[in-house]
Amino acid sequence: LENGLARTPPMGWMSWERFRCIVDCQKFPDECISDHLFRTAADLLVSEGYADAGYEYVIIDDCWLSKERDSNGRLEPDPERFPHGMKQLANYIQSKGLKFGLYEDYGTKTCAGYPGVIDNLELDAQTFGEWDVDYVKLDGCYAEITSMDEGYPQFGYYLNKTGRLMVYSCSWPVYQEENGMKPNLTKIAEHCNLWRNYDDIQDSWSSVQDIMEWFAKNQDVIVPHAGPGHWNDPDMLIIGNYGLSLDQSKTQMAVWAILAAPLIMSNDLRAVRPEFKEILLNREIIAINQDVLGIPGKRVQQHRNISVWVRPVTPVGYTHSYAVAFTSNRDDGAPYTYSVNLNDIGLTNPAGYTFKDLYGDKEFVLRANATLTVRVNPSGVVFYKATVLP
Ligand code: GLA
Repeated sequence: LENGLARTPPMGWMSWERFRCIVDCQKFPDECISDHLFRTAADLLVSEGYADAGYEYVIIDDCWLSKERDSNGRLEPDPERFPHGMKQLANYIQSKGLKFGLYEDYGTKTCAGYPGVIDNLELDAQTFGEWDVDYVKLDGCYAEITSMDEGYPQFGYYLNKTGRLMVYSCSWPVYQEENGMKPNLTKIAEHCNLWRNYDDIQDSWSSVQDIMEWFAKNQDVIVPHAGPGHWNDPDMLIIGNYGLSLDQSKTQMAVWAILAAPLIMSNDLRAVRPEFKEILLNREIIAINQDVLGIPGKRVQQHRNISVWVRPVTPVGYTHSYAVAFTSNRDDGAPYTYSVNLNDIGLTNPAGYTFKDLYGDKEFVLRANATLTVRVNPSGVVFYKATVLP
């Protein structure tokens, strides 16, 4: 969507994967979907250095609404969990230099059963504008799949009509995929800043593997549609939670950088251990993700359960520079030795490249025809930036 927003993949924090639909604030005061949770997230994004690294949007996912609309038919947040209303919360988040995102659903109900927007597209877009929303995630539960090609653009039209700039995140293609339709990504990219292509991420390595596999298998169809203003979305970063080891976390961060994926964390910012935080704050990897060319990478090789992923990035010389990741789906305990010829993975600059290890300090030069040999940990990654030499 050419609304001037999301020129690089959006970065931020969202509640769903970690906090789900916890609504009992008596029992779980620090985890329930409430004003307190999002103010705390905003505070920590700033105080823990995430905001400085680029994480910007604080996004409320499902379960923020009252079960019913108000007497004027307007959406309202649950009055007990959001006692100050949404505009005040938005303005608090914005006063910290951050931006405010909100979830809704195109259908009759959100996935968790709260009121959807279907019969109130214009009113609800207006309400979001009045609440100073900066980012809208529009889900697609309880909706007519066949009407999405018209309905999602229509809601986008009303968002635009408010005069307030809002990033528009659509779940339109994933519901079409699930129902055996082929999403029209040309149209979707015209109307949305980002869109969910595939299943929800869960807190496990198998879920991350499954998503990586889907994005690799479908790369020739989906990659051409991504670029500044319009991105494929493989779903949230789950780094810092229960399910991923340190190596697996490094792998998710590396592959999400290769894919030019939105970097939207869903974790408990009060409890992210230092070595996981270091991954989330890795400036060189974030720079790959946010590269201004906005060209997503692809899996270019897969042998013996090792995948090689390559993404073209700046600076550009005789060829692009590249981010190169070797990921492992292996579980035989030792680091696995793997070699590629640079020409075979598209690195053809005659003068070669300076390779910088993005999870270490190693730096070395290789000419175009050279062999690169790495050792990849089980479910881990070796990640380089290869900067083109003159
Ligand atoms: C769907 C979405 C998730 C989340 C939940 C909320 O499953 O894909 O990202 O928003 O709904 O109910």
